[in-house]
Amino acid sequence: MRKNIVAGNWKMNTTVAEGVQLAKEVNEAVAAAGELKCDVVIGVPFTHLTAVKEAIDIEKVGLSAENCANKEKGAYTGEVSAAMVASTGANYVILGHSERREYYNETPEILKEKVDLALANGLKIIFCCGESLELREAGTYEEFIKAELKDSLFHLSAEEFANIVIAYEPIWAIGTGVTATSDQAEEVHAFIRSFLAEKYGETVANDTTILYGGSCKPSNAQELFAKPNIDGGLIGGASLKAADFMGIVTAF
Ligand code: 13P
Repeated sequence: MRKNIVAGNWKMNTTVAEGVQLAKEVNEAVAAAGELKCDVVIGVPFTHLTAVKEAIDIEKVGLSAENCANKEKGAYTGEVSAAMVASTGANYVILGHSERREYYNETPEILKEKVDLALANGLKIIFCCGESLELREAGTYEEFIKAELKDSLFHLSAEEFANIVIAYEPIWAIGTGVTATSDQAEEVHAFIRSFLAEKYGETVANDTTILYGGSCKPSNAQELFAKPNIDGGLIGGASLKAADFMGIVTAF
């Protein structure tokens, strides 16, 4: 059966020292919490990966990069490869976040290359999808989400797909304080799962973890996570304080 996961996405926040401190607090809180009903992952800037890896017990707290390059290696100044990410001991990478699609022009084709390199380097992928407010209001969001998934992931085999976690993050809910209602989120999660079933069959679809992201916080996590197709969250702002993040982790 699929895993529940609560993953933090720190985005471009914290210095290394602040990040190590936050990671230690999360690690200690997870250790103190005993048996949890979800896996915990923190997504941190590239610069923090090595130091954060040292500060946590990777068996208890997974470690994710927030991106990786679409090239294997070589003359790509400023880029960080999937192999480099894996060499820090990180076990996940977030790909396809709407902020990267929008501000850094990441196309489905580029994301497909990143997906392949991440998998080739043994990383699990938290792959983001989600519509803008315009598409939500136009009612065409399902077609849009289908294309996001199909164009960057559907070349994978069922076996490879076992390393994919989907994160549904409606753009209109990210950092806005406006959360999708639990019914709105559940509707899209169920739709995504049925779309995965069409391509890969029921078993793969039922085994795939689908996270919700967008203004998820301790006060709304429980209602969201109670839905049958919502298997956890990808948390931005509320992952920057250990107490808030743990409030979401323990919502399960
Ligand atoms: P917020 O939780 O700050 O809305 O961000 C969500 C997100 O983008 C996580 O990747």
